[in-house]
Amino acid sequence: MSTVDQVASTNENERMRLRVVKTQYETKGIVTFELQDPNGAALPAFSAGAHIDIWISVNECRQYSLCGAPDDVHTYKIGVQREDEGSGGSIWVHEHLSVGEIIETSLPRNLFPLARDASSHLLLAGGIGVTPLIAMIHELEASNASYEMHFCSRSADRTPFMEFLTPRIEAGYVHVHHDEGDPAAGLDIAALLHDQPDGAHLYYCGPMGFMAAAKNASSHWIKGTVHFEFFSSPEDDEANIETANTAFQVKLKDSGEVFDIPADKTIVEVLRENGIPVDTQCEDGFCATCMTRYVAGEPEHRDSVLDDDDREQFVLICCARSKTPLLELDL
Ligand code: FES
Repeated sequence: MSTVDQVASTNENERMRLRVVKTQYETKGIVTFELQDPNGAALPAFSAGAHIDIWISVNECRQYSLCGAPDDVHTYKIGVQREDEGSGGSIWVHEHLSVGEIIETSLPRNLFPLARDASSHLLLAGGIGVTPLIAMIHELEASNASYEMHFCSRSADRTPFMEFLTPRIEAGYVHVHHDEGDPAAGLDIAALLHDQPDGAHLYYCGPMGFMAAAKNASSHWIKGTVHFEFFSSPEDDEANIETANTAFQVKLKDSGEVFDIPADKTIVEVLRENGIPVDTQCEDGFCATCMTRYVAGEPEHRDSVLDDDDREQFVLICCARSKTPLLELDL
């Protein structure tokens, strides 16, 4: 299933109110939170790799991967690492979410689904990027699928989910690598990904340096078999920026209207200025809320979400530019 299949079926702006029913320290600085409907109702289903948005103020939300079992219909679980140098979301979560608290969340959305046609699954996690991959283990084991995980973390005392992982480490499915702060002493990602087993798909999530290493090491894997998710906004050099901004035009298929997109504005900004509403969240190319089908022209994709197949039909208009003078959108 492509990214887009999942987005199209779940891209709604509905919100839920959920109660925090359990919190647990995984390691110093990493806490898991379990969320349930206040009245005990079943929650909307999700598949491994999904995330929810948590509103930390009226206009501000943060995205957290669900790391519980997808077949648990009553509980969503997230794992949050406190980032004192971050944008404040994780600090808010750590300081405000206590048992009994009611919070607002989105429905689950999945931009990082498992491939149904894979004969084996290689999961590669860096630090707190392990959270969506924990849900993947639940789902893969429930369907008796073949998988192996490599989990890179700094040290034993900074490795979350060990209660869950230990039996899988002992069974040989999960391998944990500690680098003690020196990446050269950690997992040799290039060696691990040098040969692609027949039918294998790769999934990776972690910090920026880790993402770059996994991307480089898997560049020769067969198209469509490598899946990844950033858990923060990628730096510019990771976001597929090919050229400096230039002006172009956007045409709307339904009305035939044509808008000039100057070099210093995004498509979203120009559409809004002209009274055309567009749903967005991150406005940075990694949540896919603004995903739009295009029907003519060639986008210059600048997101870190869409895979190659998706990019043949869709564009994220909060960040994309155009390689052609005119880009026609299915709007
Ligand atoms: S609004 Fe998040 S990718 Fe466009």
